[in-house]
Amino acid sequence: MILVTGATGNIGRSLLGELHAHGAGPVRGLTRDAARASFPAGVEAWEGDFADPAALAPALDGVRSLFLVSRLGPDADILEAAGRAGVEHVVLVSSITVLTHPHLGPARENLAVERLLEDSGMAWTVLRPTQFASNTLWWAASIRERRTVRVPYADTGLPTIHPADIAAVARVALTEPGHRGRAYALTGPERVTPRQQAAAIAAALGREVPFAETGREEAHRQLSAALGAEAADAVLDVTGGDVNDELLAVRDTVGKVTGAAARPFHRWVAENLAAFR
Ligand SMILES: NC(=O)c1ccc[n+]([C@@H]2O[C@H](COP(=O)([O-])OP(=O)(O)OC[C@H]3O[C@@H](n4cnc5c(N)ncnc54)[C@H](OP(=O)(O)O)[C@@H]3O)[C@@H](O)[C@H]2O)c1
Repeated sequence: MILVTGATGNIGRSLLGELHAHGAGPVRGLTRDAARASFPAGVEAWEGDFADPAALAPALDGVRSLFLVSRLGPDADILEAAGRAGVEHVVLVSSITVLTHPHLGPARENLAVERLLEDSGMAWTVLRPTQFASNTLWWAASIRERRTVRVPYADTGLPTIHPADIAAVARVALTEPGHRGRAYALTGPERVTPRQQAAAIAAALGREVPFAETGREEAHRQLSAALGAEAADAVLDVTGGDVNDELLAVRDTVGKVTGAAARPFHRWVAENLAAFR
């Protein structure tokens, strides 16, 4: 049995589809609201919340492989419960910032989870993706309501990744030999700036998307409301305020692991256009 956490999320949704398409055997998808989740036929929808410690053991019962999205819940407790339940292999979604910005709070947290996993006695594969294409969903309401998209660091291009490519790598790591004890830095196939992202969405919609660059202070005010001040600073550093060559590098890991080239940003836009209409 494979347990997929974050099963309704950007990566999890794709991963369930990948596992189903490849006939990966029994799969359980964890969600806090099974009635709202629509999983592929044959995937067992399992309702559970990481905020409830009693939910862990039943969700892990019979599970041999775990896809764990870091920092959704108390990772130390989750890994301990997984070990106790007899999980053999954990594929963990961490972040490329453990390589590029290890001093930042979120990266330190991810690094701590990676170390717990490596010391757990279970086999592990760590995925360290760069910025997701789906982060542009933050703009969706502005675009739908014809308001101006206001973004800092408008001309800083990052090798943005399609979450389906993270899922594709996860599927291979979960179901094929040769990926245990490996940490994969994952990027998209090209760097794309926020201005280019807005232009790609505009082109797909066939109408103008008003766009303006903001200063860091305005962006920090907005992000802080959702994430808190420290995490907002971290996001701003890794999206333009303090980028480095490691973060900007386009890598071929997705292609090497999956055999298929990483998907470009415009493909994600085409698949998710309804969110912006
Ligand atoms: N966004 C980026 O640019 C970026 C870059 C690098 C790394 N990452 C990492 O990628 C991960 C996020 O992946 P994602 O975008 O696929 O996630 P996501 O779309 O944010 O989805 C996460 C899912 O987790 C579930 N969830 C949330 N709280 C939960 C709880 N208390 N108990 C159980 N389930 C819970 C939710 O499902 P339900 O509502 O159905 O319960 C949600 O759909 C994070 O670890 C992040 O650090 C992100």
